[in-house]
Amino acid sequence: MPDYRFSSAFQAPTGSVIRELFKYLSLPGMISFAGGYPAAQFFDREPLAEASQRAFAEAPLDCLQYGATEGLPALRAELVKLMGRRGSEVAMDDVLVTTGSQQGLDLLIKVLLEPGDTVMVERPGYPAALQALRMGGMRVLSAVTDRDGLDTEQLEQQLAGLPTGTVRLLYCVPTFANPTGACLTLERREHLLALAARHDLLIIEDDPYGALRFAGEALPSLLALSERIDGAQGRVVHLSSLSKVIAPGLRLGWMVAPAAIAQRCRIAKQTVDLCTSPWAQQIAVEYLRAGGLEAALPGLVAGYREKAQRMLTGLAGLEEYLEVSPPAGGMFVWGKCRRGVAAKVLLEKAIEQRVLFVPGAAFYAEAPEMDSLRLSFAAPDVGQIDVGLERLAQAFKTV
Ligand SMILES: Cc1ncc(COP(=O)(O)O)c(C=O)c1O
Repeated sequence: MPDYRFSSAFQAPTGSVIRELFKYLSLPGMISFAGGYPAAQFFDREPLAEASQRAFAEAPLDCLQYGATEGLPALRAELVKLMGRRGSEVAMDDVLVTTGSQQGLDLLIKVLLEPGDTVMVERPGYPAALQALRMGGMRVLSAVTDRDGLDTEQLEQQLAGLPTGTVRLLYCVPTFANPTGACLTLERREHLLALAARHDLLIIEDDPYGALRFAGEALPSLLALSERIDGAQGRVVHLSSLSKVIAPGLRLGWMVAPAAIAQRCRIAKQTVDLCTSPWAQQIAVEYLRAGGLEAALPGLVAGYREKAQRMLTGLAGLEEYLEVSPPAGGMFVWGKCRRGVAAKVLLEKAIEQRVLFVPGAAFYAEAPEMDSLRLSFAAPDVGQIDVGLERLAQAFKTV
């Protein structure tokens, strides 16, 4: 075999810890609280099948042919309307369709950063963002979070201690974060935007879960709020996705960015995939135009509310082992094992009991808290949630 030479980022790459857990999913009877997979039973199958048929019947060539890199105009128009319902008036030119919101982040890294640049990410934070930034050679600084998301007071101190311009951008998931489920309060949103203005920071707001609020009052996105805060206009790039509210199999996300950024991301995307699948885009157009998402959302939210409550009720019985933060939306519950139990050791016991979760270490840029873990209530049904938590209790007893 030739001695292959690899780029420096791929000399010894470490894959996603969460994807590594997939091999256990095939063990008989396994119940998984691990992935951030949407519930299969909530997929809006009939309306999606109809949208799919209409897409092909009415625009077969548009489905089969290459499309514009920035996305089909009809989908961008639907996304403009969707953003309007979410409180942001955006222009079609500011919307770029991406192959999942994950691609949006990758394009932004390409366009905005040089290797060695400093980026801030919530601690704990979304592992695929950490991975993408590491592969890009960025220096990742952790921004402390608590039950209410980013601790902006601490962030202010951190930024004040660094030479101006050190931090190029801040990546965050302010609404129902992955992994903590935390939702940034309005006061902190305003504070964060004021800090962005003061420190010349660009914020990437990743928002795949915001529509899945099952408790409390809706809050404006950072993008919407940035319009109202002095000096914050143009400082938020917003990413979102149809993955969690319709289906990840579509691989459809989008970016709302100031024109100068959107235009460069469009050019960067040309060398990544030329365009996002026009076939998938046409299906989404038909589904959104027919009001499919609006019709499905209340049921989806009610379904996740029921699952979250079931999990929290079950976790109340594990109180002596695990301290958790109840979320008001999204798909995740974040927990800390009591008495310093290491989540990795607990996972070994949990696998024997046929239940999976993600040890928290995967979510830290540095100095991981080994006693933390993430549980997702989204994919299992309520019966599986009950059984899975009984098994987790057994695992705790044997650790
Ligand atoms: C915070 C966050 N951003 C992005 C993604 C990726 O979403 P997509 O399927 O749109 O690429 C996920 C998926 O789990 C996520 O949790």
